[in-house]
Amino acid sequence: MMRKKPSSNINKIIRIAIFASGSGSNAENIADYFKDNTEVDIALILANKPDAYVLERAKKLDIPSFVFSGKEFRSSEIVLDKLRENKIDFVVLAGFMLLVPKYLVEAFPDKIINIHPALLPHYGGKGMFGDNVHKAVIANKEIKSGISIHYVNERYDEGNIIFQAETLIESDDTAEDLATKIHALEYKHFPRVIEEVLI
Ligand code: GAR
Repeated sequence: MMRKKPSSNINKIIRIAIFASGSGSNAENIADYFKDNTEVDIALILANKPDAYVLERAKKLDIPSFVFSGKEFRSSEIVLDKLRENKIDFVVLAGFMLLVPKYLVEAFPDKIINIHPALLPHYGGKGMFGDNVHKAVIANKEIKSGISIHYVNERYDEGNIIFQAETLIESDDTAEDLATKIHALEYKHFPRVIEEVLI
């Protein structure tokens, strides 16, 4: 019989839903990281755009997916129903660009985390996502940027920070160069931080 880790508070498989809006390279990296983990199951991938590439990745990874519109997200509980139907315990936002509505934050207290591609509280808030962030950081001639992993509340990028990591910016780095550096940090740290938060 397998012995339980004494420090673990896991007594069942933790079912995770990942939300993404675009490419989903973080979603795939997280799914790869947990694929042989018997305590954590990436059970569902959700996207708010029918043409988001993350849906192709979900197919390839053999993970069920669900697509919803921004309007359905804001003004119905269709997404919450889907999470309940799939017995989701924990939600990870990995490249998800919509504000999480109050009903969802309340249904998953301290059980939704997000990754932001900058050193919060700088370069966060409405409109600050993906490449917009990197362009603003480069335009301001910052010498460093980084990633912030944080709990999600009803305001953009304001929940408690769990983890940050930095990268230096060279004077000739473009926004694309910075995006590559940031993605590398995300792939390295995000799955591990999710695991630490869960266990
Ligand atoms: C990631 O860099 C993530 O930090 C960022 O979008 C990118 C998605 O890449 N998220 C935000 O800007 C959220 N405000 P991916 O789709 O390849 O994982």
